[in-house]
Amino acid sequence: MLFDTHVHLNADQFKEDASEVIERANAEGVSHMVVVGFDTETIKGAIKLAETYEFIYAAVGWHPVDAIDMTDADLEWIEELASHPKVVAIGEMGLDYHWDKSPKDVQKEVFRKQIRLAKKVNMPIIIHDREAHQDIVTILKEENAEEVGGIMHCFGGSLEIAKQCMDMNFYISFGGPVTFKNAKKPKEVAKEIPLDRLLIETDCPFLAPHPYRGKRNEPAYVKLIAEQIAELKEVSYEQLSKQTMENAKKLFSIS
Ligand code: NI
Repeated sequence: MLFDTHVHLNADQFKEDASEVIERANAEGVSHMVVVGFDTETIKGAIKLAETYEFIYAAVGWHPVDAIDMTDADLEWIEELASHPKVVAIGEMGLDYHWDKSPKDVQKEVFRKQIRLAKKVNMPIIIHDREAHQDIVTILKEENAEEVGGIMHCFGGSLEIAKQCMDMNFYISFGGPVTFKNAKKPKEVAKEIPLDRLLIETDCPFLAPHPYRGKRNEPAYVKLIAEQIAELKEVSYEQLSKQTMENAKKLFSIS
């Protein structure tokens, strides 16, 4: 059984066929998923899916690319949703220096506000880090995010950054890029992460693993990511699946 810790079945790309996509995931052994919301519409979508399917959970937060659009009312709404029985984390949140829609200082402020909220409601956080590794670590430290911990989602940083995050109670989650033929760094880093700190995810519809690279991603493909990491770690697929399942359940407080 596999736990896909980061899916966007709430995205437009799944509008037509979400139920078939979910069936295919179940058929491949994906028994749990967290649908991640990152703005008004996708948060609503995540909650709806979590209310529809027993094995689907939701995370609610605001994406750094759209940080400039987040209002105080949005933040209050996220706080209210935190008490929903199927909401298991706050996020995704973080910093994204690839796109410049939201200035860095706005991104940082919105990131800090969400960490504080997560601490207030005592929930783990899901971190989106694109080209912002050092600033992410600095803010996590300054805000004492260690209190709640969480996930470095689709991790693309160095082993050094990963270690600093693990020291702050974070899990390191790998997605499709770890399977890419030319992805030397994610493979090297994944190999070094202790089993009890590892998580797997698809981040679908984005970042489909090899051999589907460039196509629409879906939760069924998390199996390919699990197989790749098991190979890198030189453990059995069963052991890797079991351990990542346990890690995710522990982090999200799912029994
Ligand atoms: Ni995402």
